[in-house]
Amino acid sequence: MSATVVKQKPKTGLNIRKIRADFPILNRKIHGKPLIYLDNAATSQKPNQVIDSIVDYYKNYNANVHRGVHTLSEEATEAYEASRKKVADFINAGDSRQVVFVKNATEAINLVAYSWGRTNIKKGDEILLTDMEHHSNLVPWQRLVNELGAKLKFIPIDERGQLQMSKDKLQKLVTSKTKLVAFTHVSNVLGTINPVKRIVSDIRNLNPDAKILIDGSQAVPHMTVSIQSINPDFYVFTGHKMLGPTGVGVLYAKKELLEKMDPFLSGGEMILEVEKEKSSWNYIPWKFEAGTPNIAGVIGLGAAIDYLSGIGMKNVREHEKELTIYALEELARVNNLVTYGPEDAERRGGVVSFNIVNEKGKVAIHPHDLASILDSEGVATRSGHHCAQPLMKVLDIPAAARISFYIYNTKEEIDILITAIEKAKKIFRL
Ligand SMILES: Cc1ncc(COP(=O)(O)O)c(C=O)c1O
Repeated sequence: MSATVVKQKPKTGLNIRKIRADFPILNRKIHGKPLIYLDNAATSQKPNQVIDSIVDYYKNYNANVHRGVHTLSEEATEAYEASRKKVADFINAGDSRQVVFVKNATEAINLVAYSWGRTNIKKGDEILLTDMEHHSNLVPWQRLVNELGAKLKFIPIDERGQLQMSKDKLQKLVTSKTKLVAFTHVSNVLGTINPVKRIVSDIRNLNPDAKILIDGSQAVPHMTVSIQSINPDFYVFTGHKMLGPTGVGVLYAKKELLEKMDPFLSGGEMILEVEKEKSSWNYIPWKFEAGTPNIAGVIGLGAAIDYLSGIGMKNVREHEKELTIYALEELARVNNLVTYGPEDAERRGGVVSFNIVNEKGKVAIHPHDLASILDSEGVATRSGHHCAQPLMKVLDIPAAARISFYIYNTKEEIDILITAIEKAKKIFRL
């Protein structure tokens, strides 16, 4: 049983006490106080079921995959490929050959930029991004357009952090030169849930040839995602934010694109035939999985998916929505505190960024100072630019504090956070 009390039963009926008991780290004390982990958008904690699945692999069937005919290798291959099927089912991707295992979301986007981008983007072409992208979905495209003489364009956000995407606005941005539109499903700063299905269909109406990449890093861990219903060309996410281990991420791509794309990395595993002077490529998805993969990581991700599926993604979303509504209400009671992102919890995930400001609206406690004071109360939050420096500029702030929720968080933890924020304000005489 973890240290923090769970008094208020969540409306979703989730058994938070039972869930918390699966996460050994929640028993930790930080500076003598129970850990309150509100940095889930950076990485989530891991339940025993995930940790045990990794230990079980190393203890009982550690072997390389796809290479041996011995029992251990067959068991490892079976578990590795079973995880691929779990991922495909979890995101309703259809054919599991469209699921490529990579290191993280960043690598997945780089893979697309190298393998698809360098063949399909030409001088004068345009890539459309948004003002709310994580650096992972910006820097690889900057490098690509700078190398090829192409151009980046950006969909702006409104004052509540929602994309300005009316049909006529989008019409001006999506042109015949647009080769790719890449945008996040959920903002890691604003919490905004973008209406991805609508955006995809609007883009396809304006330019059916433009490819669409969605960064699902903050969506897949927190809500039901159906690739077949959204219909993107590429969709990426990262395992460590969804109870899985670090070092494993996913690229979903349409089969016909993967078939045409050149490999990203080359060497073992990704080949069919190798001669001295030339080679032919393996079938998809293995064509994109050069070298020994993160077998334990992939197996751990499979266990994380089992765990989340056991709870049900609808329940995960409802629980986080309940916490977000509560947090927004409680934060609104704190004087001089401003939050960013949509007011309506229906339009946002479990991420709330905020600042303590002075009467001129300028940041009065630097988020790093605030995070240090909160840490001294056992509360882990994030502070800084959140890998979204262009968005900080749009919001006209140097940085922000951020809290982000997951299945094990409670309203009691939000109460402790609020007390800790008040304490920080007292220290700064605000
Ligand atoms: C929206 C978004 N995209 C991409 C990433 C990058 O994830 P990773 O560092 O696992 O590649 C993050 C991580 O913070 C994120 O929040």
